[in-house]
Amino acid sequence: MVAILGYSREQIFEAVKAMYTSVAEAPNAPFHFPTGESACRVLGYPGEEIGQMPEALRASFAGVGYPFRAEAVQAGDTVLDLGAGAGNDSVVASRRVGPEGHVVALDLTAAMTRKLQTAARADGLDNVSVVQGSAERIPLADGSVDSITSNGMLNLVPDKRRAVREMFRVLRPGGRLQIADVVIDRPVTVDCEADPRLWVECVVGATVEEDFLAMFRDAGFEDIEVLRSFDYFAHSPSRQTQEIAASFGARSIEVGMRRGARAPSRVWQAAQRLNPQRAVASMWRRGAMGMANLTLALVACYGTLAAVSLLPLLGIGLALNEALWAGTIALFVVLAALAVAAGVKRASTPGPALLAAGGAGVVLYALFVEYSMAVEAAGFALLAGAAVWDIAARRRRQKQVLGLIGTTRAPGPPLPRTGG
Ligand SMILES: C[S@@+](CC[C@H](N)C(=O)[O-])C[C@H]1O[C@@H](n2cnc3c(N)ncnc32)[C@H](O)[C@@H]1O
Repeated sequence: MVAILGYSREQIFEAVKAMYTSVAEAPNAPFHFPTGESACRVLGYPGEEIGQMPEALRASFAGVGYPFRAEAVQAGDTVLDLGAGAGNDSVVASRRVGPEGHVVALDLTAAMTRKLQTAARADGLDNVSVVQGSAERIPLADGSVDSITSNGMLNLVPDKRRAVREMFRVLRPGGRLQIADVVIDRPVTVDCEADPRLWVECVVGATVEEDFLAMFRDAGFEDIEVLRSFDYFAHSPSRQTQEIAASFGARSIEVGMRRGARAPSRVWQAAQRLNPQRAVASMWRRGAMGMANLTLALVACYGTLAAVSLLPLLGIGLALNEALWAGTIALFVVLAALAVAAGVKRASTPGPALLAAGGAGVVLYALFVEYSMAVEAAGFALLAGAAVWDIAARRRRQKQVLGLIGTTRAPGPPLPRTGG
């Protein structure tokens, strides 16, 4: 079992199925995200396309954007609608591909696929086939579709990289992908196991925008273009969801891209993930830069000291430039303090920043005014306390925003049991 933010995969699938069974079977119930025809309108679907959607399906629309802005679906295409839900986008796609084309609507939730199947029969949508299945294991042959459309699904999928690799696999080389999904600025770093609803409300499972786009690039997609980025959650009927979304910088993006000729090798993909620029950006977003710089300062200080003491025992002489040594330690100490100070807003308390400034001051005093090993070590200890406090305060703040502690989370609609 893989745990994601404390959830097991099974918990996520169960919560997703439960939530979207409600959207299928009781579309007029209150949800924390916009649904139905009004959602189609605010997301920018043209009236003509809304009119194409069978009324029974329209009420269960739960998309987060207008993926057709990317114009990936063309006449005659075999299209895969991934995470089709009630299939409103499948219906729009079926009109776009025409009688020569075909749409495969795939969704995890049985109630959704049942609903679309019934409407497709009733409305004579002969070029739409409905499949219940998972985006992580698409039941289609390699290179068998010309285009993929997806709206609001990827943020709900536990193994997103695997789903993206599957999209690449089933698309023909040069095939097109249009996707609308939720992205965030700051990742959720706390364990949300206590409330599976948080995952299905589309913020907790979402990916930082740069990582979202990199996931597709790594898998071999090309010409990736973000066509629109907008505040989807401003339309949420829940003030708490709006606050959670604002706190993590959650928004919708609509993206178009093309499948490259070949999948990059796994080694190349892994190397991309080790890119230092990406690693630093990720550490920064997670609030780990204070701790990282402090570690570098400790290595520069005590690591060098150890090397200077031990290497002569091996017959290796080391000439140490003391000014350069002290300067390097000071640089990392100052960077650590600045990184902690930069988190004041996220931590909601000036405490860690003040402690970090004090710790940095003590180390700098020991380095440049009057050296004492004990004073220097005390400065490092204060800085370490500040970095730990900063991380703990940020996590506490995230938990408060998510309603996991401190406040009583406003109850949403119950998550019904599913048999799917
Ligand atoms: C936000 S809804 C959007 C539905 C639809 N695209 C629309 O625009 O109305 C997300 C849909 O993705 C489906 N889903 C979630 N995880 C999935 C997965 N791993 N594989 C396939 N579908 C999934 C859910 O069942 C749900 O119907």
